[in-house]
Amino acid sequence: MDMGKLAGKNAIVTGGSSGIGRAIAMALATEGANVAIGDLSESPREGGARTTDEIVKMGSKSFFVQTDVSKEGDVEKLVSAAISKFGNLDIMVNNAGITVIKSALETTGDEFLRVLEVNVKGAFLGSKYALKHMVSRKSGKIINLASNFSFTALGNISAYVTSKTAVLGLTKALAVEFAPFGININAIAPGATKTEFTRPFWGNSEGLNELAQRTPFRKNGEFLVKPGDIGRTAVFLASEDSDMMTGTSILVDGGWNAW
Ligand SMILES: NC(=O)c1ccc[n+]([C@@H]2O[C@H](COP(=O)([O-])OP(=O)(O)OC[C@H]3O[C@@H](n4cnc5c(N)ncnc54)[C@H](O)[C@@H]3O)[C@@H](O)[C@H]2O)c1
Repeated sequence: MDMGKLAGKNAIVTGGSSGIGRAIAMALATEGANVAIGDLSESPREGGARTTDEIVKMGSKSFFVQTDVSKEGDVEKLVSAAISKFGNLDIMVNNAGITVIKSALETTGDEFLRVLEVNVKGAFLGSKYALKHMVSRKSGKIINLASNFSFTALGNISAYVTSKTAVLGLTKALAVEFAPFGININAIAPGATKTEFTRPFWGNSEGLNELAQRTPFRKNGEFLVKPGDIGRTAVFLASEDSDMMTGTSILVDGGWNAW
């Protein structure tokens, strides 16, 4: 019987109730990993069954911990719950993220800071508590969610672009610091992906057209990335197939950045 590439591995996915995080959690479980989910809410934003229930159906262990990734105490509890229930932690996916879509002229300092707190401080804290454990085991895989907007910008998302650029810097800095401990730290940079996150664009043909025009590739006629595409990339970065990769990112953007 094929046990899967990640059989016996234990993972955490933040923001794993919905969208890309949910797809990553399920892709890791499909390859045999146990997955703890840390999110503000247990219910998927898009509706449907809870991620933990889907994973248990697949035959892996899974549980939910209510977590705000911007709160240090919450992240510490999430990581220690995973270690006490699973025995150890091999894979940390810092996926929880938010955006503010409006002109910089209308964005308050607090709104700007909140995006940085969730997207950057959240990834830092998730990494920090996972690393505390991984350092002593001298192995581990950390995956941060960057974005096509880590490399290029659009108007009206200045806080988001700033945060996702910083995620690349964080990924590189931690990769260098923890390379001597055999820990791989990389990022995935998705292009426009069909989740609740991008819903504001779906009903807006001008916005959707702009995204479509910037994406040269089509899969079955569709330009939007599917959450499952990111899930399979996460499996690669979580597995030994990527053991010589660290401090880098993989764009999964249908060619957005190739223009
Ligand atoms: N959808 C896209 O087009 C796209 C493109 C590039 C990068 N990304 C990144 O991928 C990640 C996931 O995005 P998505 O499209 O699945 O979004 P989503 O809104 O569908 O899901 C995000 C999940 O994160 C959770 N979350 C939000 N704030 C949190 C917090 N403070 N603590 C814990 N959990 C929190 C939400 O509850 C939700 O379950 C984000 O980091 C996002 O920036 C998305």
